[in-house]
Amino acid sequence: MARLSGKVAWVTGAGTGIGAAAAEALAREGAKVVLTGRRREKLEEVAARIGAAAQVMPADLTVAAEVRQAADAIVGQHGRLDILVNNAGTNIVERDWKRLKPEGVDTLIHGNLSSAFYCTTAVLPQMRAQGGGLIIHTSSMAGRFVSPLSGPGYTAAKHGVVAMSHSINQQECVNNIRSCCICPGEVNTEILQKRPVKLTEEELAKMVQPEDVGELVAFIATRPAHVCLNEILITPTWNRGYVAQMNRGM
Ligand SMILES: NC(=O)c1ccc[n+]([C@@H]2O[C@H](COP(=O)([O-])OP(=O)(O)OC[C@H]3O[C@@H](n4cnc5c(N)ncnc54)[C@H](OP(=O)(O)O)[C@@H]3O)[C@@H](O)[C@H]2O)c1
Repeated sequence: MARLSGKVAWVTGAGTGIGAAAAEALAREGAKVVLTGRRREKLEEVAARIGAAAQVMPADLTVAAEVRQAADAIVGQHGRLDILVNNAGTNIVERDWKRLKPEGVDTLIHGNLSSAFYCTTAVLPQMRAQGGGLIIHTSSMAGRFVSPLSGPGYTAAKHGVVAMSHSINQQECVNNIRSCCICPGEVNTEILQKRPVKLTEEELAKMVQPEDVGELVAFIATRPAHVCLNEILITPTWNRGYVAQMNRGM
């Protein structure tokens, strides 16, 4: 193993869910992992599981200056930045048009799209200078398909993440920089606690688990540098959206 030995990965949203699992999977492959989120204690828990390869770097990614500071600190301390896992994201309970307010719109657009742009613009100069890099974004199935489940603000922001990822490949492929957009369906993580209708333990157990996406992130990162996986859709086999459609007789 240790196919990522010598590589430095910055994982956002690394204190919980998909980000934590991605950081652990990348560390198992030998990468140094820098963990960012707002809650230091959650990052510390993940770092304790990983050991010496992990570094905790809390930041609020909706604040461009904090993102810049974190990226500069990583490059200053490690001299390189090979992989950005642009994973942090959020949703709100009041997500439908009847209840959506400007504050909610700001939370969704800043917390899913602006933050991802800030991280991307912060790492690209270093990746260009060192002759390459990989950016993996966690968009969503809501970034590909429009449905009421995730809400219009989240859906629009995650569509933006998909567009952003493809535009990176269009402009940065000549600099040996690859961008991959993961579009997950339902994954059993904290974010689902913001669903307006609570999910049962049985439903959560049938979903994709964070470790499944973590392993996917490590798979993407261990492909040879000349291979770009542009976009990946990963969903539970028991896909509640499809099951609901069949139950409606469609
Ligand atoms: N679970 C699903 O079904 C699903 C499906 C499709 C896509 N996704 C996407 O997957 C990504 C990871 O989510 P998850 O499912 O693993 O849920 P999660 O456990 O809630 O993870 C989201 C992480 O993002 C961090 N975060 C949120 N806002 C932040 C900010 N402003 N600055 C820094 N960190 C921030 C949170 O940490 P702090 O609160 O400590 O900052 C948290 O660790 C998200 O982009 C989500 O939209 C999830």
